[in-house]
Amino acid sequence: MTEKLTTQDTAVETATEDADAAGRKLDAQRAGARVGLTSDEIIINGGRPLKGRIEVRGAKNLATKAMVAALLGKTPSVLRNVPNISDVRVVAGLLALHGVLITKGDQAGEWRLDPSNVEVAHQADIDAHAGSSRIPILFCGPLLHRLGEAFIPDLGGCRIGDRPIDFHLDALRQFGAVIEKLPSGISLTAPDGLKGANIELPYPSVGATEQVLLTAVLAEGQTELRNAAIEPEIVDLICILQKMGAIISMEPNRVIFIEGVPELRGYDHRAIFDRNEAASWAAAALATKGDIFVGGVEQEEMMTFLNVFRKVGGDFDVHDDGIRFWHPGGELKPVVIETDVHPGFMTDWQQPLVVALTLAQGESTIHETVYENRFGFTDALVKMGADIVVYKEGLHDENRRVKRREFEQAAVITGPVHLRGADIEVPDLRGGFSHLIAALTAEGQSKVTNLGIISRGYENFIEKLHLLGADFVYES
Ligand code: EPZ
Repeated sequence: MTEKLTTQDTAVETATEDADAAGRKLDAQRAGARVGLTSDEIIINGGRPLKGRIEVRGAKNLATKAMVAALLGKTPSVLRNVPNISDVRVVAGLLALHGVLITKGDQAGEWRLDPSNVEVAHQADIDAHAGSSRIPILFCGPLLHRLGEAFIPDLGGCRIGDRPIDFHLDALRQFGAVIEKLPSGISLTAPDGLKGANIELPYPSVGATEQVLLTAVLAEGQTELRNAAIEPEIVDLICILQKMGAIISMEPNRVIFIEGVPELRGYDHRAIFDRNEAASWAAAALATKGDIFVGGVEQEEMMTFLNVFRKVGGDFDVHDDGIRFWHPGGELKPVVIETDVHPGFMTDWQQPLVVALTLAQGESTIHETVYENRFGFTDALVKMGADIVVYKEGLHDENRRVKRREFEQAAVITGPVHLRGADIEVPDLRGGFSHLIAALTAEGQSKVTNLGIISRGYENFIEKLHLLGADFVYES
């Protein structure tokens, strides 16, 4: 039996709670109520190793795009392994506004998306639903193909840089879209339809690559995309589009070739696991001297992270159903990391790992090459006693996205230090998880506020902290 989801309650059923964790959760809630916490804050008593098993479900940065891709199909799609996170619920709300019928499947994390009655949504409703998401920009191609028009609200997303969409708009214009800037967003039409184009991205942008893929598959003729992103989530999206009937080939040297087809059908797909969540829990195991089995994770997509995890002094075991990450004892070692596009070290992996680097014996350096402002989270760690200095200097490279001296691009972390509990506010998604790890690692009590941001990308993280034996109180 499937149950219709409305835009109001597109809450995806939460993962089944471990009975024991449910009991601990109730105690924690009662304690949280006693200390008068709001549901957006948590008090953590640090210093306890995280130990146990948690499951990681589908990637936030694939599932949300796969949901948009369903708009392109003539028939319904089924997406499985969907995480219970607010970014997914925001996209579900936007799709429902455009007439997509969304129902929950029989399995946890299974969604059915029926795009048969796609219609133009009302601008005011779209504005209300866009929330803090960046995903609405990916509705352009599918809505232009389906309806010949689209209104895209101004985007949200973590404040980790300017996050312009110039690559997206340039690509859409090359397909033949006409774009008008409105006070609260952009309006698009395609008077002569959308035609294949030869597009070269100035930078291997994940979002712009997805924009081109979602537009080219139904455009008339062929599209050649050069300097494309090739992250695992991009490859998974290409697999979804191929299942729908698209003709896409990944050539050498970041070239993707798409032959437009007249129509696409729905897909049935199990979303790739969330690499960022997996790396975050692994970093938590290292910082708290714990031992966490992260279920649902594959080695191939984590290779670069696993190498760094081992170099810092962590250990891991790869199993068929996940990876066990643990701190084997002894000192942690400093490392030099330069974030980069895939297959380099992901920009989303550095924040959670920094806490473990504050405990390492010596000086680590992180060069952030993807975003302009991705070290804001270090302020809270310094407040807790970390020795971190952020520089606008950094490696010089004309091709560098983050221009030298204009933006913070290098952080030097000197350890080992003893982190002390403090009151800290979550600044953004990955920095926020880094704050949780710091509070779990620090001696004494920390109060972490603005938790809602973490729910955007980390499924049931409170339940998972219970499962891993963390000591905290909160009010759900
Ligand atoms: C995606 O963001 C992810 N978000 C990010 O994860 C991730 O960090 C990023 O890719 C890189 O892997 C989602 O998929 C929702 P980009 P995206 O386009 O697509 C600049 C998380 O925590 N740029 O590859 O926005 C941009 O400002 C999030 O889950 C332009 O200048 O990333 C950035 O500096 C954070 N113009 C760089 O390129 C454009 O038109 C990389 O951005 C587009 C991007």
